[in-house]
Amino acid sequence: MGQEPADIHDMDPQLFQERVHSFEFWFEAVQGYLAGKTYGHTPDLKEEDLDEDEKDRLITVLCNYAVGETAALEGSSGLVGIAPNRNTKLFLATQVVDEGRHLEVLIHRLQDLGVRDAEAEIDRRGSPKLVEFRRRLLDLVASKDWEAAIFAQNVILEAMEFAVFRRHAEGADPVTREVLLGIIKDERRHIGFGENELGRRLQSAPHVRARLGEVRRELDPLVLASFDDVTEKIGLSRDERPELARSYLRAVERLGFTP
Ligand SMILES: [Fe+2]
Ligand SMILES: [Fe+2]
Repeated sequence: MGQEPADIHDMDPQLFQERVHSFEFWFEAVQGYLAGKTYGHTPDLKEEDLDEDEKDRLITVLCNYAVGETAALEGSSGLVGIAPNRNTKLFLATQVVDEGRHLEVLIHRLQDLGVRDAEAEIDRRGSPKLVEFRRRLLDLVASKDWEAAIFAQNVILEAMEFAVFRRHAEGADPVTREVLLGIIKDERRHIGFGENELGRRLQSAPHVRARLGEVRRELDPLVLASFDDVTEKIGLSRDERPELARSYLRAVERLGFTP
C-alpha cells in the first residue's frame, strides 16, 4: 500500500487491460499520493511570497489548466457513453473522477490566490486556442468517433498537459508544485490507457492511422499555439521553449506518429 504500481507504460498490453481498467487499480494508485493531502497538497505547506505580477501570471496559467481539465472532464464523461466495452467504460469512469479532482484542486488553488469568482476568471483568461481545442474534442466525442476522440483526449491533450505541468512544477511555488505533481501521476495513467487502446487498434485496423494523422494535423497547431500563451508565464526562457514542444511531440510519437 502507498506505492504507485509499476510503470504502466511498460506493462504487457493484456495485463494492462486486466489490471488497469478497474477501480481496484485506481484506488491503489491514488491513495499513495493523495492520502493526507487537502486539495492536492500537504495541508500545512507554507505559501511562498509571490509579488503581484507573479501571482497574476500564475492565475492566468492555472485558469488555462482549468480549461484543459474541464475539456478532459467533459470529454472522458462523454466517452463512457461511446466506449466499445465495459472494461473500457470502467477505466473512463476512473478518469472522470481524476479529471473532476484536477479541476477542483485548480479552482481551489485559484481561490487560495485570492480569485473570488473562479468561473468568470477562467472564462476571461482562457486561451482562445485552448477553448477551440476543447470545442474540437467535444465535437469528436459527439460524433462518436471513438479512435479520434481517444486520440485527441488521451494522447494529445494528456501529452500537452503532461509536458507543461511537469516543466512548470520544476520552478513553481511549493503548493502549486505539489498540486501539479499529483495531477501528473494521474495523467500518466491516462496516457497509458490511450496508448494501450490505440496501439491495439492500429495493429488490427491500419486505416485508423490515416484518420489519427488527420486529427493530429488539425490539433497540433492548437496545442503548440496554446504553449506560446503559457510558456513565458511559467518562467521558460525563449531558448527553453522548443524543448517543451519536443517533449509533447515525443509523447505523441510513442504511438509511431511522426510530425
Ligand atoms: Fe487531468
Ligand atoms: Fe487526464
